[in-house]
Amino acid sequence: MNHFAEAREQETKYHEAFYLETELFAPGTWLAKPVKTVMNLLQELGTNEPIHVLDLGCGVGRNSIPIAEAVQPAGGSVVGVDLLPVAIEKLEQYAAQYGVQSVIRSVVADVEQYEIPPYAYDYIVACSCLEHVSDLAAFQAVVNRMIRGTKDRGINCILINTEAAEYDVELGSQSPGVIELPMKTEETIHLLRALYRDWEIRIVSVIPQSIAEEKNGRAIEFRGNWLTFAAQQRTLHSEGKSH
Ligand SMILES: C[S@@+](CC[C@H](N)C(=O)[O-])C[C@H]1O[C@@H](n2cnc3c(N)ncnc32)[C@H](O)[C@@H]1O
Repeated sequence: MNHFAEAREQETKYHEAFYLETELFAPGTWLAKPVKTVMNLLQELGTNEPIHVLDLGCGVGRNSIPIAEAVQPAGGSVVGVDLLPVAIEKLEQYAAQYGVQSVIRSVVADVEQYEIPPYAYDYIVACSCLEHVSDLAAFQAVVNRMIRGTKDRGINCILINTEAAEYDVELGSQSPGVIELPMKTEETIHLLRALYRDWEIRIVSVIPQSIAEEKNGRAIEFRGNWLTFAAQQRTLHSEGKSH
């Protein structure tokens, strides 16, 4: 099995099991709360006007559900896209449970193939999603679609795990983490800055991470960097003004 297929299989198994056994917003898990930066940037756009949001790799709605709650009163909307049918089934359940089913449209799709209509969204979020595409060309193609899909003054917020590694505590040795698209932190920042060269760069932040877990009976630390990149469209689009 090639690297991509092996990583995709492992990621799929992990996420399917996790989403089935973990309730949305369960304390002590990574589903406990929405990502603060994601919510802060939404607030900056202001939720008094109808805000239209696209959440790529939305999972079960850790961010989509609170975003939907925030944009609902002014008639906004959220489209959540995820590869896994299990994630989208759960997202639909949670949308009903939290009273936002009329706000959220959910789609089972691979972001690599997912067409984003031009000039359609005020806010596009890709939280732990783009490191799961098949190669750098796919990464750039998705980001370019995000850019084209954003309205004037709209925001893109990308959060990526870079330099993922597994550290074996007993052996003191480190091996590369199994992820579809392993990315170096500085190279990713450089690439994103180039792709968003016409935009205002709002946030570039790197937080080193280390999560202790047990894998096959061994104490492991999952290491890596949590890269947050946010940019805001500053020029007027020349197309699609009728949207
Ligand atoms: C770590 S989870 C994050 C979920 C959500 N964004 C959040 O912050 O809670 C990554 C999600 O991305 C989805 N995903 C991975 N690769 C994808 C792809 N190529 N297209 C769409 N979704 C993908 C996975 O199924 C998974 O639900």
